[in-house]
Amino acid sequence: MRRRPQLVPWTAAGQTSERQANGDDVVRTTGWVFNNETGSELTLEQFVATGDSEVPSYLTVFGLRTPGADGRTNDDKTLVEIGCGIGRMTCAFTREYGTVVACDLDAGFLERCIESVGKFGKVDRLRTSHVTDGKTLDLPPNSADVTFSYITLQHCEADDALELTSEAVRITRPGGKVVLNYRARGAQDIVLLPLGAVARALFRVPKFGPRLSQRRWAARLGWQANRLQPDELIGPLSPLLADIEIWRNPKSKISGRGAVVQEFDGINRHHYWLIATVR
Ligand SMILES: C[S@@+](CC[C@H](N)C(=O)[O-])C[C@H]1O[C@@H](n2cnc3c(N)ncnc32)[C@H](O)[C@@H]1O
Repeated sequence: MRRRPQLVPWTAAGQTSERQANGDDVVRTTGWVFNNETGSELTLEQFVATGDSEVPSYLTVFGLRTPGADGRTNDDKTLVEIGCGIGRMTCAFTREYGTVVACDLDAGFLERCIESVGKFGKVDRLRTSHVTDGKTLDLPPNSADVTFSYITLQHCEADDALELTSEAVRITRPGGKVVLNYRARGAQDIVLLPLGAVARALFRVPKFGPRLSQRRWAARLGWQANRLQPDELIGPLSPLLADIEIWRNPKSKISGRGAVVQEFDGINRHHYWLIATVR
């Protein structure tokens, strides 16, 4: 397998998380991986509370709490989350969906995710799936009603993000939804993306690379891996999708061919969501 430096900051953070005694310490030491906050006063409970407030608002705004024509509610449905981390949003998902399959590149994060959901969610509804190669979901076709991903696909190399997008469609049953978050191109990317590529190249250097990847600034640069545009996602997948929507912040101008544009001011103005029904 070719070396995959874009995975380095995550596995480094995952290993750091494995060394911590408990979830509170994980948030204190690696919180920056997720929300840029650090500090000895932070707790896992506060961290999960940010997911508790985001999840219901996204599900409501995106129409994911309304029972479909078949009358099934979320209690009867399966949500797959790509890039669950230590379970910031997963806890809330297990309160909404009958089954939640949390997927991540890093096995250490998956362990922490189980722990977080055990404390703050419904762990009997949780399964995990390790994304060992960063691009393939080890899940069967038609196994999800909703496949969701937040602040993850922007951190993958473009090819991997495209592959994970196709994988999301593959595992979602006909009539189910993909709800996938990406980062749009911005002026700062002229500098940020090349610096990110340099950081990832340096992560390959023996001994120095692994140490560098533990540095906050280097990891933050290194995970700036792609800025896919909606047409790059929709183009190859359009025969497989219906009701394609691009959700954006009202200040954003991003759109996609054949997609209905929807706006919600709760969306980060650098982000957008691709939401579509699988045919
Ligand atoms: C910024 S965190 C977001 C976690 C969570 N979605 C949230 O909002 O708190 C990104 C997560 O995606 C995972 N990740 C990064 N690249 C991935 C890939 N190629 N496949 C699966 N997971 C990946 C990382 O390990 C990390 O846990």
